Amino acid sequence: MKPKVYVNRPIPEEALKKLAQTCDYRIWEGELAVPRDVLLKEVPEINGLLSLLTDKIDAPIMDAAPRLRVISNMAVGFDNIDVREATERKIVVCNTPGVLTETTADFAFAPLLAAARRVAEGERNVKEGRWKTWGPMTLLGHDVHHATLGIIGLGRIGAEVAKRAKGFDMKTLYYDSVRRPKLEKTLGVEFRDLKMLLGESDFVTVHVPLLLETHHLIGKEQFKIMKRTAIVVNTARGPIVDPKALYNALRNHQIAYAALDVTEPEPIPLSDPLLTLNNILIVPHIASASVATRTKMALMAVDNLLAALKGERPPHIVNPEVLAG
Ligand code: DGY
Repeated sequence: MKPKVYVNRPIPEEALKKLAQTCDYRIWEGELAVPRDVLLKEVPEINGLLSLLTDKIDAPIMDAAPRLRVISNMAVGFDNIDVREATERKIVVCNTPGVLTETTADFAFAPLLAAARRVAEGERNVKEGRWKTWGPMTLLGHDVHHATLGIIGLGRIGAEVAKRAKGFDMKTLYYDSVRRPKLEKTLGVEFRDLKMLLGESDFVTVHVPLLLETHHLIGKEQFKIMKRTAIVVNTARGPIVDPKALYNALRNHQIAYAALDVTEPEPIPLSDPLLTLNNILIVPHIASASVATRTKMALMAVDNLLAALKGERPPHIVNPEVLAG
């Protein structure tokens, strides 16, 4: 009998074909995230679950799935999964690191540049008929070249962002829970504690995972330290930046601008006060959204899942302790 798998949303065809070779799978064909009641009904018989960052996989879902052996998340982040609960039940949890690093690092510069050079406002002006002439004082923004970039989290993605910043001749600072002497040398980046980084940076870009310790890492006190001209970019996870504090900082011009690929919550409701501000740019969590990268992520998620179902160690396991003993 083939193992049974549930796939929480349509994913690239190549990955589904690979899955079909050895598994019986069912899939939620909806455009939006699989509703929780549907997922609860689908999981009782499954051995593997291919989940997305939009799906909360917690104890009740796991309790409803007594045969579940692996949760393979098609994302590098796995804050949507209660890993502790999975580990207690000996369920393997996997993620997709590495394959989206460069695509996400490329993208971090999209909102950064757009915010610095007022691209969104410019586009609105053109489409709404306000482009009347070239103006010496029109839409003046801030230079990116030779500015100071503060990277919070010099992991895989943060390091690639630093590499790209070299091309803009930026001075790059980083803060991380650990020093990275090798990267300091190879990338020419300088370590600062968080306060110093916030005080010195023209651009602050966030690249840490969402953990208890990073929840609202950037809040009221942190905005107070930043330059009034600072631009904050978040392409990591929404809850790393406190949205209420961000709203106040932007509204009171304590900082100049924010550019977000991620929000708290997601999607951001139309009634959210952040959407009333002119000095914010928000795009819908698309940093890893290139055809090639999403295909690689889906294939990696399937490979992880298949390995776990075969009883092998998946290439990217989050909780290897379940395999011990
Ligand atoms: C991830 O993989 O965690 C990313 O946020 C997806 O874009």
